Amino acid sequence: MNLGCPTGCPFVLPRPELSAAPGLVRRLAAPPGSGQDYDETKRNMLKLLVLAGIGGAGGGLVGGSIQYAQPPLVGISNFPRVQLLDLDGTALTAAKVTQEYSVNTNDVILFNYPLRNEPNFLLNVGPPTGGSGGATNVPGGIGPKKSIVAYSAICQHLGCPAPAISYYPPGACPQTPGGQAFYIHCTCHGSTYDVTNGASNLTGPAVLPLPQVVLEWNTSDDTIWATGMTPNSPPVNGHFSTLTGDYSVGNQSQLTKQQPIHSCDTFPA
Ligand code: FES
Repeated sequence: MNLGCPTGCPFVLPRPELSAAPGLVRRLAAPPGSGQDYDETKRNMLKLLVLAGIGGAGGGLVGGSIQYAQPPLVGISNFPRVQLLDLDGTALTAAKVTQEYSVNTNDVILFNYPLRNEPNFLLNVGPPTGGSGGATNVPGGIGPKKSIVAYSAICQHLGCPAPAISYYPPGACPQTPGGQAFYIHCTCHGSTYDVTNGASNLTGPAVLPLPQVVLEWNTSDDTIWATGMTPNSPPVNGHFSTLTGDYSVGNQSQLTKQQPIHSCDTFPA
């Protein structure tokens, strides 16, 4: 999408700030002045292929090298039904979400699902209580205004996790991508996602939407549950499938809060 920005747009966070961000994806430092990133996963795969080749030359070492090249497959067979807990450990309810969070919430609110290393944003994109703005009846939204949604907090480009990828409430930056007032943006390379439409792409380089968690609202006790991922969701980035790569979160998953990393550095004035 052409936003009429300078060549540096959309906004990209400088490397020193990124390196200070905690993350699940480990990246290797690029040579000074190269301006390049290295994907550690790809580098490790090359190492394994080299090892397999050495093993082949050694005849009997082949089997051992291939065995070494195959990491143990950890995962689960089905999406679990998981109850979400609030920051204080009590049951999360739609009433709490609509009272505590809204389209204007600046904090990064996360929960892991379905695996322990798969963080997701919990967002209420609806207006604050008694206020206006935001969006209601969004795809997959639950709660009284169908405005509570959850998306993977791992970018679909090269896997930068929250808070390097963060939610931007209205007014976070003076210029908005594609005319969107609020959105998810990844400071690593500038991908932007539409929180009102299944986290579809607003700006690249990512070409896939963020996977969306299927939320269930139990109206009898107002509790909120995660039960799966929407059929159109791609696998969580960095995972062969969303169900492989770590152990299950169990029966409950508690919210955590982080400070977002926002960058409007290259926004036009
Ligand atoms: S990892 Fe590249 S835009 Fe997010």
